[in-house]
Amino acid sequence: MTPVTATDTILTGQVLSYTGSPFDGDPAAAARLDEAVLIRAGRISASGTRAEMQAAAPGAQLSDQGDALIMAGFVDAHVHYPQTAMIASWGKRLIDWLNSYTFPEEMRFGNAAYAADIAGRYLDLTLANGTTSLCSYCTIHPESVEAFFTAAQARGQRVFAGKTCMDRNAPEGLRDTAQSGYDDSKTLLGKWHGVDRLSYAITPRFSPTSTPEQLEAMGALWAEHPDCLMQTHLSEQTDEVEWVKSLYPQARDYLDTYEAHGLLGARGLYGHAIYLEDRERDRLREVGGALIHCPTSNTFIGSGLFNTAARIAEGQRVGLATDTGGGSSFSMLRTMAAAYEIGQLTGTALHPAQLLWLATVGSAETLHMGGVIGNITPGAEADVIALDLASTPAIAQRHAQAKDLWEAVFPTIMMGDDRAIRQVWVAGRPML
Ligand code: GUN
Ligand code: ZN
Repeated sequence: MTPVTATDTILTGQVLSYTGSPFDGDPAAAARLDEAVLIRAGRISASGTRAEMQAAAPGAQLSDQGDALIMAGFVDAHVHYPQTAMIASWGKRLIDWLNSYTFPEEMRFGNAAYAADIAGRYLDLTLANGTTSLCSYCTIHPESVEAFFTAAQARGQRVFAGKTCMDRNAPEGLRDTAQSGYDDSKTLLGKWHGVDRLSYAITPRFSPTSTPEQLEAMGALWAEHPDCLMQTHLSEQTDEVEWVKSLYPQARDYLDTYEAHGLLGARGLYGHAIYLEDRERDRLREVGGALIHCPTSNTFIGSGLFNTAARIAEGQRVGLATDTGGGSSFSMLRTMAAAYEIGQLTGTALHPAQLLWLATVGSAETLHMGGVIGNITPGAEADVIALDLASTPAIAQRHAQAKDLWEAVFPTIMMGDDRAIRQVWVAGRPML
């Protein structure tokens, strides 16, 4: 018999895991339901019946979650934690929105105490919404990266983040240079990458705010550290795409501004990617770069409609993200609801199994963390949430009519918020 350790915990409820992709064939067939999951030393040990788990770990602590849905914590593949305090700013489109609201707020992150305050606030808000892992932009200030990794480390979370690099088309005080962007990024990467559950992501903001020299320097840094993720923005709004064409007259298309400078790769995360030309789609698919869908942002800033089903069907890797604070919510439930609505507007009603997969396994795979986070599978890190599927009177009365799991969970996807998040475990440790 396996020795019992003090850290063994059995969670009981409806345990949801994925054994395949719900975008290959019948979506429901990709999912599996169990009665219980055993957590040992911060990792998923096994799932099965309650009796099986108790036999495997007779001395384990039992945590009964009733009929809550127990699943992997949400993975948010594209956020800007420094935009926490200006989320939901009214009335602008992308470039105006950056200049009017985003850049003035990001200017404040040279102050280490302010950065620490917002980093902690952001991680607490997102944990309360069931998000256990995420990939964040910081600001140009190294202090903003220090603050974020320090706050995530204190909470034991697996996060990805990097210093946002910008050396043009941003205000005085919010610009680095090609050289200082490279140097500061390299120093931060050396200090934080691979420490505990923290990973550095090389972060040129987007082509309009970097000179070709800066993109080249970021490409060189990535070539020196190919195990790092690289995150940026791509083809979010039509006037942005036109601007990029005028700034980079030699480029074949927007993606080529990255490709020509060593910034196209399988570990690349390309936020938004709405207005892709055929060549861009072909190259992204060939290389295996990830498209990160940010649905609440795309409606809020008026960017446009990303066709999730079409992109996945053509073989792209797609993750899901809030894009806080261009996105209008910290909640991945709200984000799945927006993805569903955009799916309806682009011709596909995404199945609840597909939405939950995008918010967990799909996003984890874009971060090259499949099998590590985002699923309840043996050996994975035990970042887990318990969802109350009847968290408000409106949801409860709809839930009462449900004939199967998917009908039971869909009202929470569409109408749920942080009240649906009953408990969150990070590496097996309860957080709420
Ligand atoms: N493109 C460049 N920077 C940003 C940003 O902060 N948010 C969004 N939504 N798009 C961007
Ligand atoms: Zn963004």
